[in-house]
Amino acid sequence: MFKNMKDETNIHPVFDKIAGREIKENLLGQKAISIWLVGLSGAGKTTVGAALECLLIEKRILTQILDGDNIRSGINKNLKFTETDREENIRRIAEVNKLFLNCGVVTINCFINPTHETRDFVEGILGTQDIVTVYINTPIEVCEQRDVKGLYKKARAGELKNFTGIDSPFEPPINPEITVNTAELSIEESARLILEYVLPIIKKQS
Ligand code: ADX
Repeated sequence: MFKNMKDETNIHPVFDKIAGREIKENLLGQKAISIWLVGLSGAGKTTVGAALECLLIEKRILTQILDGDNIRSGINKNLKFTETDREENIRRIAEVNKLFLNCGVVTINCFINPTHETRDFVEGILGTQDIVTVYINTPIEVCEQRDVKGLYKKARAGELKNFTGIDSPFEPPINPEITVNTAELSIEESARLILEYVLPIIKKQS
């Protein structure tokens, strides 16, 4: 019986009987970490995340990108943008991260992940030791000017409610490991900045 489970759940997890994370990390020759790119819609999270993934793959690191729009079109397609749904969105993603970490895979998470509460949630599920937080700190004016998906325009017109930065909160992360402003740095420069920080952590000493 898993020690935190109560008998009446009829659930019998076997976490201790399946091959552990270290075996898989050794197999891959890398240490798994969970990189979180957080910031406003249109800040450049996914673009920088994709560039970072290319750089990591060049270094023969196995990665998985998890991205807001993709995840919300699949596993989280039943969730909207209320506070409760955003929490559930992030909770599930953190659980998915746990699976990847146990497989030795480096995840690159591109989510708004808007509040201290939602980020605390992630830490509650994953612990702090494997998380690297990158704040994609592109000013809202720049995100709005880019408006790649036309969502800022809809939000300003009142056609889209609870839009982050307009009528739904975004709290900048406290003490992120890295801060990137994509209005000042190129995508390549932004990705390389993150790479320099994460690579020594990921590369296992053989
Ligand atoms: S989060 O707040 O729950 O972390 P998530 O990163 O999954 O958000 O999804 C954000 C993406 O959903 C945005 O990039 C945008 O394309 C889309 N979106 C649609 N409606 C909203 C909204 N009300 N607020 C923010 N993003 C929205």
